[in-house]
Amino acid sequence: LKIFSGSSHPELAKAICEYNEIPLGASEIMKFSNENIMVRLLENVRGSDVFVVQTSCPPVNESIMEMLIMIDALHYASAERITAVLPYFPYVRSDKKDKPRISITARLIADLLETAGAHRVLTMDLHSPQIQGFFRIPIDQLIAAPLICDYFRAQDLSNTVLVAGDVGESKSIGRYANRLNIPIAIIDKRREGDDEKAKAVHLIGDVKGKDALIIDDEIASGGTLVEAVHFLQQHGVNKVSAAAVHPVLSGKAMDRIREVEIEELVVTDSIPLREKQQEYNKFKVLSV
Ligand code: R5P
Repeated sequence: LKIFSGSSHPELAKAICEYNEIPLGASEIMKFSNENIMVRLLENVRGSDVFVVQTSCPPVNESIMEMLIMIDALHYASAERITAVLPYFPYVRSDKKDKPRISITARLIADLLETAGAHRVLTMDLHSPQIQGFFRIPIDQLIAAPLICDYFRAQDLSNTVLVAGDVGESKSIGRYANRLNIPIAIIDKRREGDDEKAKAVHLIGDVKGKDALIIDDEIASGGTLVEAVHFLQQHGVNKVSAAAVHPVLSGKAMDRIREVEIEELVVTDSIPLREKQQEYNKFKVLSV
């Protein structure tokens, strides 16, 4: 068994290697002056069971290309089985044709991974689980709920209500509610554009005087989270914490998050926090 890393999240790849007590596979990734990428494997992989770790984070498109080229290199080097490990799946939100004449890009990524030579895919908390159906090769979707619930179980949750920041999240919040055995509330939110602030319009459930724990699959622009915090405060919540699997934290996310009062913001290391983001002292990062 061998594990190789792309350049998106070497720390996670190293942590996985340490956990499995094997060295990280040696490779070099070069970018030429014409921006073409070359991946070279610096060890024999013939007949090996190989895992390639590459999460989706900036520069997103480059990391996809790098992943595909690495898989192709493994294929031509006669690796027996290649598993693409994508903790945060690229273009995960482009999963349907919800506007005329657009691409279903998450499906395109699935096609590209298969074409490059991946035999299996390992990913985490997909925005919509149906994305698994974009693949003909086996795909495993791991979920962070057990890890996140273990963390919160060590706290006093007797006055806590789990909050889904939008109706879409209300189904997966059940995973958390079942494990933690606490009530849930759901915010009905509406969004105009991608980086536009989402608007909360209704609240289903009782949060007055409670400690709210907002659960989401990802924080991207931060609009959903910040709107949820404001909305819960308007509804008389005692205090607010939040947990999200994937800290995408794009665009104005950090500026928005710093503006609201949050006790603790729990995320996983499916995506690395950039230096500026690490300065925010409310983050608690759980390792997947
Ligand atoms: C929405 O459907 C998801 O569950 C997340 O709430 C959403 O992706 C977060 O996006 P943003 O941070 O841009 O509001």
